Amino acid sequence: MIITLANFKMNKTLYDNKVWAEKFCELLFKGRKLSSKVGCAPSFPYIKTMKDVLIGTGIYVGAQNMYFEPKGAFTGEVSISQLKDLGIDFVIIGHSERRHIFGETDELIKKKVHSAASNGILPVLCVGETLEQRKSGKTLEIIEKQLEALEGAKNHIVIAYEPVWAIGTGIPATKEQIKEVVDFIREKSKKYIKDFSVLYGGSIDEKVAEEISDICDGGLVGSASLDPQKFYKICLAFDTV
Ligand code: PGA
Repeated sequence: MIITLANFKMNKTLYDNKVWAEKFCELLFKGRKLSSKVGCAPSFPYIKTMKDVLIGTGIYVGAQNMYFEPKGAFTGEVSISQLKDLGIDFVIIGHSERRHIFGETDELIKKKVHSAASNGILPVLCVGETLEQRKSGKTLEIIEKQLEALEGAKNHIVIAYEPVWAIGTGIPATKEQIKEVVDFIREKSKKYIKDFSVLYGGSIDEKVAEEISDICDGGLVGSASLDPQKFYKICLAFDTV
């Protein structure tokens, strides 16, 4: 499955989200018909609105995070069943900002992947090495460890390779670097699951998307996705099916 997802992070107001949806739909339905999937992950408070606004368009709406417990005394957390109530289609899990700013561990991330998958929500598992890990030749070892989150999962899972040093820096990984890790992810993931897609994320723009569309199954887009026009062009570039 080819899929291109927008990660708005902690950006956009209610108004901004609606404007984005309107402009993106206009581009999507006026232009070439896409045969791949596209989606966006707004901040929690806007998921319901975006689901309503995008109803019937086929555009996925997802969450940027979740907690694995179904309910209970977890102040400030949101469970997958609560997100399911809003009709989400996917959930981003283990984004590098969650791992590095909020201290999420591989163990916690694995529980989240299982909670989402067993509730029928598509998990988008993010993996990626830091610059230090890359420099010390540990990239594949780190990725392999992060992929253990897939163990025991059955449904389709999206894995996004997002090198930490490429996120939000304007310096994407090179095609060779991406290919090496994406091929590795494909090989290792087979051990755990049959059905998966591998995306790239990290300073994607239209040019990067065009360049890597033959080696990835789509992209996870941060900064460039905030602009519907730029995101649309990236979706087109990945839509090679
Ligand atoms: P970026 O973010 O495109 O701004 O680098 C990607 C991501 O964090 O998913």
